Amino acid sequence: MGDDIADDTEDDIDEVERSRLRLRATFTEDAELYDRARPGYPVELYDDLAEVAGVGTGCRLLEIGCGTGQATVPLAERGCHVLAVELGEAMARVARRNLAGFPQAEVVVSAFEDWTPPERPFDVVFSATAFHWVDPAVRVVKSAACLRPGGTIATVATHHVAGGSDDFFREVQDCYERFDPSTPKGLRLSDASAVAKDGREIEESPLFGPVRFFRYERDITYTTGQYLDVLRTYSNHRALGWPVLDAMLACIGSLIDRRHGGRITKRYLTELRVAHRVPSGLEKVGPLPSGDA
Ligand SMILES: C[S@@+](CC[C@H](N)C(=O)[O-])C[C@H]1O[C@@H](n2cnc3c(N)ncnc32)[C@H](O)[C@@H]1O
Repeated sequence: MGDDIADDTEDDIDEVERSRLRLRATFTEDAELYDRARPGYPVELYDDLAEVAGVGTGCRLLEIGCGTGQATVPLAERGCHVLAVELGEAMARVARRNLAGFPQAEVVVSAFEDWTPPERPFDVVFSATAFHWVDPAVRVVKSAACLRPGGTIATVATHHVAGGSDDFFREVQDCYERFDPSTPKGLRLSDASAVAKDGREIEESPLFGPVRFFRYERDITYTTGQYLDVLRTYSNHRALGWPVLDAMLACIGSLIDRRHGGRITKRYLTELRVAHRVPSGLEKVGPLPSGDA
């Protein structure tokens, strides 16, 4: 029985891993759609990066998972030398097109896990809505290895929170429950204030100092067509397969048209997490096991 439990756990872990690899490859299936539909990030985020990480003219910045350049273009506009490592070939192609005016920005196609960093370290390792797709056993340690002492890791996460067209988001749950078996029954969006600040992964690493959080809330209004396009870029939606996804999007589109006048407003919480690389030799040590003192 003990063995059964152990096997189940291993199977679960394998499934999580398989799902991560499958889902992270979906974005590049329609890079033009992603480029057209996905919003960029608030300008204040780049201002904060300038202040805490010196992101600006001459900064050497490594970006993990640049997509089609949602953050890469504003970073290049601020004068950064950007090297972006992007898994998807089609995403990289569109990113290069968007970065055509910035000779100091380069996009290479590779999984970050497999990529060989140059010898010269970076000032900043940055990743927007992409860090969680990288192997958890690799992402923090390899980011640290790419940074100069005192350099900065900066990751951006996007949370879907309550606000905007609240009635629509309550009603749309019915479409999800009809078509997406993974949707928990009665799911509701949380207020931004209820979203926990979670910096454990980086803080538990001896290679980084404390994590600082910066948060930005904003509302974006979409027409029915624009909103359905955004949903078509979500990896978990794409994973439903087209006949199911089409039916679910028809349900959502009809709800927006019939009950919300063809327009809804979505609230996003964007969170920037920043920590500095501890200089070599000064890595943090955890508490000593009791009895060793
Ligand atoms: C949700 S998109 C984010 C794109 C863009 N940074 C943005 O903010 O919209 C995730 C991106 O990370 C890329 N990606 C996923 N896993 C990766 C990995 N292991 N190494 C490099 N890129 C990866 C995907 O191909 C995709 O372009």
